[in-house]
Amino acid sequence: MADLSVSMCGMKLKNPLIVGAGPNTKNTTTALNCMKAGFGGIVVRSLHMQHADDVKTSTREMYRVYGNTKDFTKHLYSFQSTGAPVRKMRPDIPLGWGGATTVPTLEQWTEEVAKIVRAAKDYDCTIIASLGWCGSNLTDESLWTTEAAAMEKAGVNAVELHTGPSPATEPGRYMSMDSDHYLAMPIRAARKGTKLPIFAKIPVDCCDAVGMAQVAEKAGASGVVPVTRWSTISVDVENETAPEWRGPGMGGPWSVPIMNGLIFRMRHADKPITYLFSREQGKFPKGGPVTIPIIPSGGVRTGADVIQYLMMGGDAAQICAQVILEGVQVAGRIDKEMREWMDRKGYKTLADFRGKVNLLQPNQAKGIPQWLPIIDKEKCTGCQRCVKACPNVALSLQDKKAKLDERFCEGCRTCYYVCPVNAITLGEAKD
Ligand SMILES: Cc1cc2nc3c(=O)[nH]c(=O)nc-3n(C[C@H](O)[C@H](O)[C@H](O)COP(=O)(O)O)c2cc1C
Repeated sequence: MADLSVSMCGMKLKNPLIVGAGPNTKNTTTALNCMKAGFGGIVVRSLHMQHADDVKTSTREMYRVYGNTKDFTKHLYSFQSTGAPVRKMRPDIPLGWGGATTVPTLEQWTEEVAKIVRAAKDYDCTIIASLGWCGSNLTDESLWTTEAAAMEKAGVNAVELHTGPSPATEPGRYMSMDSDHYLAMPIRAARKGTKLPIFAKIPVDCCDAVGMAQVAEKAGASGVVPVTRWSTISVDVENETAPEWRGPGMGGPWSVPIMNGLIFRMRHADKPITYLFSREQGKFPKGGPVTIPIIPSGGVRTGADVIQYLMMGGDAAQICAQVILEGVQVAGRIDKEMREWMDRKGYKTLADFRGKVNLLQPNQAKGIPQWLPIIDKEKCTGCQRCVKACPNVALSLQDKKAKLDERFCEGCRTCYYVCPVNAITLGEAKD
């Protein structure tokens, strides 16, 4: 039986699946559902903004999904989310729920988190508490320190700083302007309040996320959580109305390869990844590879997504939107998918494949085979989709069948994908 446990920063998680801070972890009731479902850890939702001076009243959740199909376990979707001012205050619902009349004080919130921690003991679940609020909204050092101390008092295993996830507050831009103030300062300030591991969320939007992970490590972060969500503006071209939301964060499973690139580049941060030039590469002048744990947060939908993140050099993975869409049972499905893959490959522990992906060296790249389409004349209907699609004009119609001129083919495979009757297979071009 494969062992999915993860050890990092003095914590041991039974598996690498962590529920990201969000609606699934906003109070004891929802957190308990996640624990029962078997997640290795949860990040309790950041509530800082709700007791910051400028936001005395609650916000409501604004979250919407875009997808071509309703099966979100198998098909790509995108989501957009942000917080918005409540139109209607709800005196009848408990503190912390979107729309509640008043927001919890830090004392009330500490007690709620303590309850979550007590419940976690029965489920072997690691509890990470999220602090603060990103972008320009939080530049008060003492708040980070006070909140970190309060969460340690609540008994959590680690804290995570909300330094990046909400693109609506443009954290990436603020960090790009002054990374010491908007990233290193919160880490240092939280450290004054707690000895627990500190994770910093790193936004991808508008900033050098690789460089920001280096800044976080240098400032004393125990680990980083890169987040793939971008600031977006949707336009309704029919009604030409102004967008309803301000810069909500868009993300989804389509961003997995982008996250892969980020993790890889963090782990190899001193060198560019291109293999196109055989002459010696210049090095990035500042900082070396990120050596602290990396817990990517963005786009996870399947076991294969988590496996990819680990192969790139990640240590665990956070999951938020897929838990909203599919329910907490996503933990069991992903756990099973990972175990099946590991058994098939003969891997016993995550360490057997973690960080395994490497890039081809320039001399190896020359040996990459070039695809060559092979046309089955029997199957070809002469529809000419491949002829029209070929960007190199390597295909033409002869005797009502597609014909290839090998001299012009670059092996892009477009013809293979557009052929409606599978008349094209792929072979290898000879040298
Ligand atoms: C509705 C919603 C609320 C969120 N609230 C928080 C939050 O309070 N604190 C935080 O650090 N991240 C928050 N996030 C960001 C998620 O934790 C996560 O980093 C992001 O959604 C990307 O992961 P995903 O693609 O798995 O959803 C929220 C995300 C969503 C969709």
